[in-house]
Amino acid sequence: MRVEMKLCLLLLYLFVLNGIVSGDSDTFDVVKYGARGDGVHDDSKAFLAAWKAACESSGAVKVLIPKANYMVGPVKFYGPCDKVKSITVYMKGYLKATTDLKDYGTYDWITFGFVEGLTLTGGGTFDGQGAASWSFNSCRLKKNCQVLPTNLKFVSLNDTVVRGITSLNSKFFHMGLVDCNNFMGRDLKITAPETSPNTDGIHIERSTTVSVYSSIIGTGDDCISIGHSSYDITISGVTCGPGHGISIGSLGRYEKEKDVNGIVVKDCTITETMNGVRIKTWEDSPVGSQASNMTFNNIVMHRVSNPIIIDQTYCPYTSCTSASSSRVKLKDIYFKNIRGTSTTPVAVLLECSKGLPCENVFLENIHLELSPGGGPTNSTCENVKPQYSGTQIPPPCNT
Ligand SMILES: *[C@@H]1O[C@H](CO)[C@@H](O)[C@H](O)[C@H]1NC(C)=O
Ligand SMILES: *[C@@H]1O[C@H](CO)[C@@H](O)[C@H](O)[C@H]1NC(C)=O
Ligand SMILES: *[C@@H]1O[C@H](CO)[C@@H](O)[C@H](O)[C@H]1NC(C)=O
Repeated sequence: MRVEMKLCLLLLYLFVLNGIVSGDSDTFDVVKYGARGDGVHDDSKAFLAAWKAACESSGAVKVLIPKANYMVGPVKFYGPCDKVKSITVYMKGYLKATTDLKDYGTYDWITFGFVEGLTLTGGGTFDGQGAASWSFNSCRLKKNCQVLPTNLKFVSLNDTVVRGITSLNSKFFHMGLVDCNNFMGRDLKITAPETSPNTDGIHIERSTTVSVYSSIIGTGDDCISIGHSSYDITISGVTCGPGHGISIGSLGRYEKEKDVNGIVVKDCTITETMNGVRIKTWEDSPVGSQASNMTFNNIVMHRVSNPIIIDQTYCPYTSCTSASSSRVKLKDIYFKNIRGTSTTPVAVLLECSKGLPCENVFLENIHLELSPGGGPTNSTCENVKPQYSGTQIPPPCNT
């Protein structure tokens, strides 16, 4: 009798302990909230229900998306989650976006917003099924275009980790950050065809203390673009290509833009892209702003068309008046230890604003050869007097 009771207590104890250790009570599984995971029926409602339950819970909570195929329309995973300390989304599934653009309106596909302590991880794939939408993209032709949905949008988040997930064939950008503070992206894989329009890998805007580490990005547009009002951004260990390279800008498009400061791009490999590292500002910027303290260090280029480029005459549409010159001031810019090959002779192209010349541009240990062909490479400088040190291939601008 006593032995049985002890055994019973022990079992009860183990059961409770197991529950605590595995944290079952804090895990919100989308399947338990009705997700079918058959890749056909729209599981958006179940996803939202699981998120809502987690968000209204307390402590460290988890949302689980088990391994399966899911069809999902636009969803907003929003806070505030007042009593939640952290919320981890284990995304182990393969998510396919619905393809009827009428479902989206102004929504992106998956949006996380207004939470603190979000972790998104689990090895899953977000497939935007963009091929069905790319022909509806008019943003390459006109400025006021209907913007298509971004695969993963992060809005007003503090202390976020996004790690070990894949984004595939987004309709527009793959990932977009707006008003994020303290965000780390790591071990990301982002893929879309070279010909797909505006499928930028990661676009960062109005955000502070953002890092992207060891990630592989190949798209039809910028692998990473850093927009206005951004501060303390580190990009490191990124493999980029195909695409348009790693870009700061375009800046100077909108009225309310604030300065950009403290950008480090380092230890990256860029292969067969249109640009390597680029700073671009609109020629007809409506207001003045400044972008400064930007460093590009230890970058390897393989057959890149424009490996190092500053373009302050950016105007992809015909509406810009060529009479104006960019009012974005660029200063304190360091290009260091950049080597590899360029497919065009002008390996270093620095076109600064006529009205506001660039200040303190440094080039140190640059070695860029022409490939194929192996002929000489050269530099073009407008409205800038760079300072040089170490190896210089191409030779400096003779100003
Ligand atoms: C993020 O932090 C800022 C500054 O502390 C705060 O004002 C804001 O409310 C926080 N955002 C969220 C979603 O908690
Ligand atoms: C340059 O940016 C870094 C962050 O990337 C920051 O720590 C440093 O203080 C900035 N320097 C200046 C002079 O603004
Ligand atoms: C750079 O090299 C190309 C090919 O040799 C040549 O056509 C071009 O005029 C050169 N540009 C400058 C600025 O020297």
